[in-house]
Amino acid sequence: MVNQYDVAAANYTEADMTAFRTCVESYSFLRNLGSVAGRSVLDVACGEGFYSRQFAELGAARVVAVDASAEMVRHGREAEQAAPLGIEYHVHDAAEMPVLGEFDLVAATYLLHYAADTDHMRSMCARMVANLRPGGRFVTLVPNPELDPAGPGHLKYGFSLDWPSAAADGDEVVLNIPTDPPMALKLRYWSRRTYTEVLATGGFSEIEWCPLECAPDAEDLYGPGFFDDYLANPHAMIVRAVRPAG
Ligand SMILES: C[S@@+](CC[C@H](N)C(=O)[O-])C[C@H]1O[C@@H](n2cnc3c(N)ncnc32)[C@H](O)[C@@H]1O
Repeated sequence: MVNQYDVAAANYTEADMTAFRTCVESYSFLRNLGSVAGRSVLDVACGEGFYSRQFAELGAARVVAVDASAEMVRHGREAEQAAPLGIEYHVHDAAEMPVLGEFDLVAATYLLHYAADTDHMRSMCARMVANLRPGGRFVTLVPNPELDPAGPGHLKYGFSLDWPSAAADGDEVVLNIPTDPPMALKLRYWSRRTYTEVLATGGFSEIEWCPLECAPDAEDLYGPGFFDDYLANPHAMIVRAVRPAG
């Protein structure tokens, strides 16, 4: 499930999910992360640096970006060369990531569902805890475990999902992105209970699930009700947690 991004990297940047990513995803994720100004941020599963660049532009003191795909990181480094923001990129599987610093914040958008099993996911959590300062915050985006596969679809927002009805832990889900050629990225379903248990046994505390919200200017940009279907059946949720202070 990791290497698929080495193949997808070339056209991942062409995926047009701008409306959803800007007005719902980034808006909600950045609000939950809190101010990054003056803080050190580790972006795990950074891809080609979509969020890493936003953290740097928002005034983060240090941004370190890690991804298992050398190709995704190559795209990130190219963007950094073209418009330097001081972002440091590394290739690592999150589950084997060394300590790269004592970060104030660890961000991981769309990572945990690529874990092969719960032990792999727990190792990812443990490595992220090891990179956080005591009391530091972790914010992640995961597929919404309560998504209704018979509910409103997501094609209008730039993607669709092959989601099993009555999904169980470890079941395969396919994220289809209509680029040319189309991308079909495989991930795994995990329940809210499993994510919460793995985060806790991986070393996090104060685990909170938060829904995605719509930016107040979304209606001006995309028209009234454009995101109603998404908000009625969101494909992702935010999970916040902290490294215990003691
Ligand atoms: C959907 S992309 C998200 C990229 C970025 N976080 C964003 O929101 O634009 C998922 C990323 O997770 C990375 N990934 C998957 N499994 C990983 C692992 N075990 N360790 C680190 N990165 C991983 C993939 O290589 C890919 O770049």
